[in-house]
Amino acid sequence: MQTAAIVMAAGAGTRMKSKKPKVAHEVLGKPMVQWVLDAASDAGAERLVAVVGHEREQVIPLVEDRAEIVVQPERLGTANAVDVCRDVLADFDGSVLVLSGDCPLITPDTLRRLVSERERTGAAAVVLTMKLPDPTGYGRIVRDADGALERIVEQKDGTPEELAIDECNSGFYCFDAKRLFWALQNVGCDNAQGEFYLTDVIELCAKKGFGAIGVATNDPDECRGANSRAQLAEATKIAQRRINAQHMANGVSMMDPDQVWIEPGVEIARDVVLYPQVFLSGATKIGEDSVIGPNTRLADTVVGERSRVDETVAIEAVIDNDVDCGPRAYLRPGAHLCDGSKAGTHVEIKKSTVGKGSKVPHLSYIGDTTIGEGVNIGAGSITCNYDGKHKHPTTIGDRAFIGSDTMMVAPVSIGAGSIIGAASCITRDVEPDALALTRPEQVQIAGWAKKKREELGID
Ligand code: UD1
Ligand code: CA
Repeated sequence: MQTAAIVMAAGAGTRMKSKKPKVAHEVLGKPMVQWVLDAASDAGAERLVAVVGHEREQVIPLVEDRAEIVVQPERLGTANAVDVCRDVLADFDGSVLVLSGDCPLITPDTLRRLVSERERTGAAAVVLTMKLPDPTGYGRIVRDADGALERIVEQKDGTPEELAIDECNSGFYCFDAKRLFWALQNVGCDNAQGEFYLTDVIELCAKKGFGAIGVATNDPDECRGANSRAQLAEATKIAQRRINAQHMANGVSMMDPDQVWIEPGVEIARDVVLYPQVFLSGATKIGEDSVIGPNTRLADTVVGERSRVDETVAIEAVIDNDVDCGPRAYLRPGAHLCDGSKAGTHVEIKKSTVGKGSKVPHLSYIGDTTIGEGVNIGAGSITCNYDGKHKHPTTIGDRAFIGSDTMMVAPVSIGAGSIIGAASCITRDVEPDALALTRPEQVQIAGWAKKKREELGID
């Protein structure tokens, strides 16, 4: 049987106090609505429909590559949010998951369970329920004397007896598509909020004998919504723990998992060690036996095997095998450290390749540069790649030795095996195996310093 998912993402989210709509807020780098769509897709939903409304111009770009979009013109209630999908799903016959775009922690496993329970029992409606110590605000699950699901009553409509029920509606459902849209035609808005309640579908299906059942979650955390910044932080914490637990189960060590933040798309091989204050984001990948951190942020960066990356910020960089990076290195987009190379302390590298075994150990800026193999760049050396308008390239051949404090004024090419004297300003190409240096004659005046001290009256 086919599965579709409708994700309600039309809400305003005033409690966020934000320019952005609620579902656009990110949990570990991924907008909440994408977490929900991805969970539905991982659970096997072939069709994804996002219902947008409030500030939809900000929501549509986040969902259009993965979902069909339906606009809910007016926020008339959750039943209306689903009903606006009637035309898009007119030809659909199967199970429909209905999810809230602001509940990013729902798992594919649970959604699969809702679908399989519906298919197994043939019920028209399956509701994910949860027991909460304080159910205030949630719809309550009303069961008959035999424990069969009868209806859901909202907080604002409940009698004191109903409000004493601790089993709640999590807001996640799986319906039979045809019966869902049949029931929605019969939902009214005669209730305390004057809204069309999706929850009324349950009673309609139960009364008609189409079957409505509740499936309990064993982890209410996965039904948490993020309506405020504080709840967003709580959701992020839960997502962090889940992701870290998964990596640890796969053989990654973390000294303090509370201080390691890994976005959902990151790949980490076994026997990697992550020290505290590590942030791994985007399409970052780390190979076996590499050690990362402390204090390191890697974004869209690929690290090979056995590399050491200490106190580093790297963005769209590539670090190969057996590389020694940091402490306090800054790798900007296009930086590529080849096998066995080094980028040391206070070194910034942009759009440059550091060849195999080459070293940039201290206090350097390397930009738009191709460094060959076995090169040593002395402390404080800099490629002057920018003339105020354009960027120019530098090439440094294999085994070249660049003395400390060399300025390489690009465009310039330094030949293989050459040596550059310390403190040179290189403005012309250097031939292979040559010595190049620019250095004024050293001046020395005997006794001058002593005389000066005497003049000033200091020892
Ligand atoms: C809903 C349920 C309640 C449940 C709770 C769980 C109803 C009537 N009640 O209540 O039983 O315990 O969720 O969190 O469904 N939305 C739209 N368009 C609308 C209305 C809502 O897209 O016209 C979206 C919201 O942005 C939100 C979701 O639907 O993502 C739920 O709506 P909300 O108003 O928050 O429902 P609750 O009152 O929390
Ligand atoms: Ca809500």
